[in-house]
Amino acid sequence: MSSRAVKRANKATPSDIGRSISPSVTVDGSSFFHQVSTGPGLSVAEREAVWQIFEDNMKGLYMDSAFGWDPPAKRAELFHFLSRYILVRGPSAGCDSSAENVKSALPLAAYVSFRFEPEAGQDVIYCYELQVSRAAQRHGLGKHLMQQVYNVGQRWRMQKVMLTVLKANVAANRFYESQGFVIDPTSPGYAERVEVIQTDGEPDEGENSTSCGETAGIDGDDSWEDEDEADECDYHILSKAMREP
Ligand SMILES: CC(C)(COP(=O)(O)OP(=O)(O)OC[C@H]1O[C@@H](n2cnc3c(N)ncnc32)[C@H](O)[C@@H]1OP(=O)(O)O)[C@@H](O)C(=O)NCCC(=O)NCCS
Repeated sequence: MSSRAVKRANKATPSDIGRSISPSVTVDGSSFFHQVSTGPGLSVAEREAVWQIFEDNMKGLYMDSAFGWDPPAKRAELFHFLSRYILVRGPSAGCDSSAENVKSALPLAAYVSFRFEPEAGQDVIYCYELQVSRAAQRHGLGKHLMQQVYNVGQRWRMQKVMLTVLKANVAANRFYESQGFVIDPTSPGYAERVEVIQTDGEPDEGENSTSCGETAGIDGDDSWEDEDEADECDYHILSKAMREP
């Protein structure tokens, strides 16, 4: 059941949410502008642009995963009535930042979609997608968008940011690790993995984890990408707790 905080957050309009994020960001001397929307509030063209980046970045990974490639189901999830978006448009070298029609004509460079949800007894801002177009990757937009999600979560009194990431998505796992995310206790196999950690923080000698949970954020040693081939699930659930505002 939704808490009061989740109910309140889900009533927030895009303008309400927009007040807790910066209106623009400058990357390598170019301006990128933010646009906040609900999933259903996106225009047909905006949905198509969202889908194109998603397909370009993720189709191969999904096809090789247990999720499979299911465009109708994925579109339903992407544009769910509770989904909220921060779109990043640009680059723009010197356009009039006050002209909405100019900003909305800039190409979509990146976006994040999220929902406010109850999860295992906590109020969370669940990041459903973080996608940076190939051309714009590794310029800081992903980091910037995660910071905006964090700010929104903090403003609406959520307790943590959560997300799901495929283990095979090595780049994304490295990115989230660099942003301070750890494997969440609700991640499949987490409890079994913790059981094999001795009190000194080292795994029992000769014992292999058969769980899906990896050890980063627990013993701080193994990389999240060090797969045990016996693992059955192919994703992690990650989280980052909110600091007190
Ligand atoms: C993963 C993704 C969101 C990261 O966004 P980004 O804008 O490219 O990353 P940033 O420039 O903000 O990177 C911040 C830090 O994350 C780490 N990082 C990012 N991409 C990385 C990569 N490919 N390999 C290793 N580390 C990486 C680095 O520490 C980086 O800092 P640095 O550039 O100073 O070294 C983006 O690459 C992307 O959209 N990938 C495809 C879609 C995807 O996998 N989304 C996540 C689904 S769960």
